[in-house]
Amino acid sequence: MPLIGSKEFVAWLPTFLQSKKVIIPKVAYPTYNVGAILAGAQAITVDLDAKQWPQADLAWINSPSNPTGRVHTESELKSAIEYSRKNNTPVVSDECYLGFGDSVTPTSILRYTEGDNSNILAVHSLSKRSSMAGYRGAFVIGDSVLIKKILEIRKHAGMMVPLPIQHAMIAALADENHVSEQRARYNSRRKTLSPALQSIGFKIEHSEAGLYIWCTRGEDAWKSVEALAKLGILVTPGIFYGADGSQYVRIAMTATDAAIADAASRITASKAE
Ligand SMILES: Cc1ncc(COP(=O)(O)O)c(C=O)c1O
Repeated sequence: MPLIGSKEFVAWLPTFLQSKKVIIPKVAYPTYNVGAILAGAQAITVDLDAKQWPQADLAWINSPSNPTGRVHTESELKSAIEYSRKNNTPVVSDECYLGFGDSVTPTSILRYTEGDNSNILAVHSLSKRSSMAGYRGAFVIGDSVLIKKILEIRKHAGMMVPLPIQHAMIAALADENHVSEQRARYNSRRKTLSPALQSIGFKIEHSEAGLYIWCTRGEDAWKSVEALAKLGILVTPGIFYGADGSQYVRIAMTATDAAIADAASRITASKAE
């Protein structure tokens, strides 16, 4: 089912399903929580291990993760599927960064359903895969019965993807070359920036995939934000993604290669001061 960007689906799925309890990762993209608020549902923040999850009527996972760049292992994905089967709970895997593996190659949850997609959905976005954020094009794939149920409500809320956008999505999805080019670009920017950050005391965690570096200097995130801002580098404090992120910053590698190289030089030079 095509979506008006994946944010639309993340924000409104709990409402469409009339969920009461929504499981979201502890450190996560804020819209999972906003979706629970819009639905009047309780958001339950959890660790990644699905064996520990409480009973709920919707669960989100996000691999590769925004903001951490962490990639779920095969056993973590299988464990989320087991949770879904055991509790009869829809599990939705937000896979919008799936094409951007670096040291780890991410896989879709749908690889492990053994042909039974019941209650399992995977969300993909052209915003990330094909740098088409302005088009507002994404899609959800998986349990066809569940998708049909969502579609019945969703279409009455006016959430149709315009046909020209659907054609643009088809064209982009038919090509993989631009995705590998962009992946190489992000990974090379990560290679440029990581040693510079490490040279001024940042420890890089996860960041195995996606388009962010997740790092900490063991200090309050705003202190790191300020230090980097003094070098003309704008980063996001980890607290935006949950309390567990309060000593981390997220650095997006969406600036140009030249701007990233320049930022890395400024960081390295600041060490000498
Ligand atoms: C994890 C995650 N999901 C969904 C989205 C929404 O993207 P879009 O609505 O552009 O598809 C984002 C955007 O940053 C994201 O990081």
